[in-house]
Amino acid sequence: MLGGNNIEIHETAFVTSTFRATDVKLSRDHFAYLWNNPKTEKWVEEYLTKVSSEESFTHCLRNRYFLEKINEHVSENRIEVLINFGAGFSMYPFLLDQNITHIEIDKPEIVEYKKMKIEQWQKEALLPKRNIHFVGVDFSKEYKEGLLATINSVKGIKKCFILIEGVLFFLDREETDGLFQLFNLVQDTGDIIGSASFQDEIKESLVFKKLMSFFGDNISKASASEYQTIPNEYYRNIENYSLIDHQDYFSLSKTYYHKIELEKELILNENFYMLQKVGS
Ligand SMILES: C[S@@+](CC[C@H](N)C(=O)[O-])C[C@H]1O[C@@H](n2cnc3c(N)ncnc32)[C@H](O)[C@@H]1O
Repeated sequence: MLGGNNIEIHETAFVTSTFRATDVKLSRDHFAYLWNNPKTEKWVEEYLTKVSSEESFTHCLRNRYFLEKINEHVSENRIEVLINFGAGFSMYPFLLDQNITHIEIDKPEIVEYKKMKIEQWQKEALLPKRNIHFVGVDFSKEYKEGLLATINSVKGIKKCFILIEGVLFFLDREETDGLFQLFNLVQDTGDIIGSASFQDEIKESLVFKKLMSFFGDNISKASASEYQTIPNEYYRNIENYSLIDHQDYFSLSKTYYHKIELEKELILNENFYMLQKVGS
């Protein structure tokens, strides 16, 4: 799973989990530590030094925000199925009510590895049992018909929340449009999407240049144009959906009492959106 010296796109899932494990009080992900390993710890240390020391907190707050929002909707009986696109090694199934059904979608190598590790940790009683369906697909290939059939067979007419975090940066606009069209086919009126992405302006910042330089040395893709940023208007204009919440790292830091140490231009400020289906 952890190949050569470079970071493959799917291996970024290890990095995100390691960040989440660094401040469990902030992330509330008390299972993230299970994915820790020496190779990722070395990357993370380098990343925090060369790109931005605030990055572990940005990832902790992202998890906290989506976890709390999903929990709110669960307690109001508005979610029965959580569908996580590009789920990586996130641990929501174990942090949420045990009655929720989970569909975890990611590249085949990620879901196979995650399933194997989770079964092992459940046998060792490190994790509780949960109802999780793992689906391996690549959003850059032909996948829609098969995935829609699989989702429908698990979800039926149940209410669902779709989560896509830490993924759109690695996809292009056509692939993103395709995903949101699929979400519309999967969801019914009242269902919710949670999405995370960066705005276009970030590409002008010093911290983004540092990120590109770090990626250039360590990751398979290299130029800034290969990474997607998304303006607010994109979310405002998604057909059949209404934007019901928009946060960023700065607003979440206030909400969850996190003290920011760095100057603004040294922070990779991610934006977080909640969309509710209003039409069909
Ligand atoms: C930075 S990780 C984020 C994982 C998780 N959402 C989280 O927040 O912890 C990005 C994830 O997107 C997945 N991903 C990227 N491109 C993909 C593609 N074309 N098809 C399927 N999954 C993809 C990767 O495999 C990886 O698990």
